[in-house]
Amino acid sequence: EVHELVDQFGRIARDLRVSLTEKCSLRCTYCMPVEGLPEIPQQQLLSADEVVRLVTIAVHRLGIREVRFTGGEPLMRRDLEAIVAGCAEAVPGVPLSMTTNAVGLEHRAEALTRAGLSRINVSLDTIDRHYFAELTRRDRLDSVLAGIRAAQEAGLTPVKINAVLMPETLYGAADLLQWCLESGCALRFIEQMPLDADHVWARANMVDARTLLDVLGERFDLREVGREDLSAPAEEWLVNGGPATVGIIASVTRSFCEDCDRTRITAQGTVRSCLFSDREVDLRDTLRSGADDEELARLWRTAMWNKSAGHGINAAGFVPPQRSMGAIGG
Ligand code: GTP
Ligand code: 5AD
Ligand code: SF4
Repeated sequence: EVHELVDQFGRIARDLRVSLTEKCSLRCTYCMPVEGLPEIPQQQLLSADEVVRLVTIAVHRLGIREVRFTGGEPLMRRDLEAIVAGCAEAVPGVPLSMTTNAVGLEHRAEALTRAGLSRINVSLDTIDRHYFAELTRRDRLDSVLAGIRAAQEAGLTPVKINAVLMPETLYGAADLLQWCLESGCALRFIEQMPLDADHVWARANMVDARTLLDVLGERFDLREVGREDLSAPAEEWLVNGGPATVGIIASVTRSFCEDCDRTRITAQGTVRSCLFSDREVDLRDTLRSGADDEELARLWRTAMWNKSAGHGINAAGFVPPQRSMGAIGG
C-alpha cells in the first residue's frame, strides 16, 4: 500500500534522485575542488542490490514515479548497467534517467539503453574547447560530444543539456544554443547555486537569467512559454518561432522550492530532503541491520516530513550546506 512522501508544507515527492558515487572524471569549478572529493570507502557506498532495494521501496510504498541517477558522475560506477537493469526489472514502467557529464559515455550508451535507461541530461557549459578545459579543468570536450552522439543513436532521447551560468558560459551561450539547435539537443541554462566545494560563490558575481536573456536576445528571437508543468525547474522560451525551446533554471532569482517534488538518496544511503539541508537520515545501516521494507519506508517518510521550506539563498545570514553539489548529486 502506498503512503506518499508528504512534508509539513503539503508538498509531495514524486521524483527520486539517487547519487551513486562522489567520484568524477571532471573538476568543474562550480562543483568540485581541484583534487576531487575525499574518497568514500567502498563499504560505505550503497551496493547495486541496495540501490535496487531502496528504489523498489520508493516506488511501491512511497509513490515515487521517476528515478534519476546522479553523482558525482554515475559513469564512474562500473556496475551502473547492473544497477539500471536491476531497477528496470524491479519497477517496470518507471522512467529511469541519468544526469552525466558524458565522458566515456560513447562506449556505454548502447548497453545502458539495453539495461533499461530511458534518457539522459548532459552537463555541458560551453562548446568552446578553451573555456571547456578552463571550467572543467580537463580537456575532454571531444569525449563529451562523442558521448552525446552515441546517446542519441542509442535512443536515450531527448538529450537535455545543462549549462551552469558562469562568465565563460555566458560568453559562448549563443554558440552553445546554435549547436544544440543543430544537433537536436534541448538546452537549459542554470543559475549557479552556492554549492561549490570551495565556497567562493557570491551572489554579486552570479550570472543571472536576465543577463543571459539579453545576450541570447542579440542573436535569437525568444518568446516566453513558461513551465512544462508546475514542478519543472525550467522556464522555457521558444527560439526563432519554434519548435525548439531554450530553458532557464533560475534557482536563485526565481526559486521554485514551493513546488519542489524531489527526494534524494546520497551515495552513502542517507535520505536528503533538500539540496540545502545537511540534516540527513540514514537508511543504509538500518537496511544492513535487517530492517524490513515498511520500516525503511517509515524512516524515509519521517525524513521528508521534516523537509525545509526552501533554500534560503536570498535570506540574510544564509550559510551554504556542508556538502557540495558533487557530494549530494545535482
Ligand atoms: P528533467 O526531469 O529532465 O527536467 O531533469 P531535472 O531538471 O530534474 O534534473 P537535472 O539533474 O538535469 O537538473 C538540472 C538542474 O536543476 C541541476 O543542474 C540543478 O542545478 C538544478 N536542480 C536539480 N535538482 C534541484 C533541486 O532539488 N533544487 C534546486 N533548487 N535545483 C535543482
Ligand atoms: N549550481 C547549479 N548547478 C550545479 N551543478 C553542479 N554544481 C552546480 C551549482 N553550483 C549542475 C551540473 C549538473 C547538475 C547535476 O548540477 O551542471 O548538470
Ligand atoms: Fe527543493 Fe530544496 Fe531544491 Fe528548493 S532547494 S527545489 S526545496 S530540493
